[in-house]
Amino acid sequence: MSEFIAELVPQAVKKLIPYQSARRIGGSGRVWLNANELEHPVQNDSADMELNRYPDFLPQDIAKAYQRYTRTSADVVAVRGADEAIDLLIRTFCQPGKDSIVICSPTYAMYEFCAESLAIEVRDAPLKACFNLDVDKVVEEAKHANMVFLCSPNNPTGNVIPRGDIISVLEGTKHSSLVVVDEAYIEFELGASTADLIEQFPHLVVIRTLSKAFGLAAVRCGFIVASGAVMEYVNKLIPPYPMPDCSSKIVLKSLSEKGLEQVKHVTDELIATRDWFSLELAKLDIVSEVYPSSTNFVLVKARAGVDLFDVMKNKGIVTRNQTHEPALQQCVRITIGSKASMLEVIDVLTTYSEEQCVELS
Ligand SMILES: Cc1ncc(COP(=O)(O)O)c(C=O)c1O
Repeated sequence: MSEFIAELVPQAVKKLIPYQSARRIGGSGRVWLNANELEHPVQNDSADMELNRYPDFLPQDIAKAYQRYTRTSADVVAVRGADEAIDLLIRTFCQPGKDSIVICSPTYAMYEFCAESLAIEVRDAPLKACFNLDVDKVVEEAKHANMVFLCSPNNPTGNVIPRGDIISVLEGTKHSSLVVVDEAYIEFELGASTADLIEQFPHLVVIRTLSKAFGLAAVRCGFIVASGAVMEYVNKLIPPYPMPDCSSKIVLKSLSEKGLEQVKHVTDELIATRDWFSLELAKLDIVSEVYPSSTNFVLVKARAGVDLFDVMKNKGIVTRNQTHEPALQQCVRITIGSKASMLEVIDVLTTYSEEQCVELS
């Protein structure tokens, strides 16, 4: 069933021999003069890290720790954020100027951006009303494409794609294209992960990140979870040193038992704040809809004539305007911060809402 995966890979990539970095070549010895590094650090204030030396070429300890966390037997590689995973997957499995990917708009903009930057065609199978997947359309478009990008939970709509729909897409594409499920927000809806399906569907690839629930956006750590058939080719193009040592240390700590407990605690708190905030928003006259969220943000639709983005911006609160998306007119995406910050948002919007009522009466 996975034979077609090799056929997706452009000839130029197939022929590539992975870049032979000094760390990949390895070897043994006493005096290391093979990588044009400085032999001794200039600044000696990171005694526990050899900052003058290149890091590991594929940090196995991180991959193993993440494998344990996801309870997967699939292959795992760490990369510099989920964004790098998206770019790497597209470059590995699509030929510029020839191949296509499928997206389901409105969704995370990087799939389209990375594809277009490589002259790879983007075919859209837009989400239906209520932001549900149009499974038949996705499968139809996938017949002409090398990869399908599904985002679950989806940014910016906040909803999870039901497992049954993802399985239907996997069934419909099992001889034709890869299905990449971006699970950047999965910690906010843990039961919804599809990583366990990789064994059954080797053309499924899962992308993860530590930038969201783990609170490590600055560290730049993401993961690709995939079958050996996929990873064989990803490993050809992966950058020579995909993870800085300083990041690796922090990542390993966050994936320890204690680190994971902390993430769970913070996630539970955030979910409680999000659900309270959503209820408060829904009470406001200026709000027409608060969409259910399985993430750390909420998508909100304002009543006609109300520009929520501007109202908050004028009070120093920066959110994400969604009006560039045809399906998200009047919508704004608000990240869930501390309870104090969310109270401030509610105060600003309540005051504005009351002023509007006075003006109308
Ligand atoms: C759905 C989705 N995927 C990937 C990313 C990028 O994550 P990273 O910071 O790991 O590059 C984001 C960031 O907002 C996202 O929303």
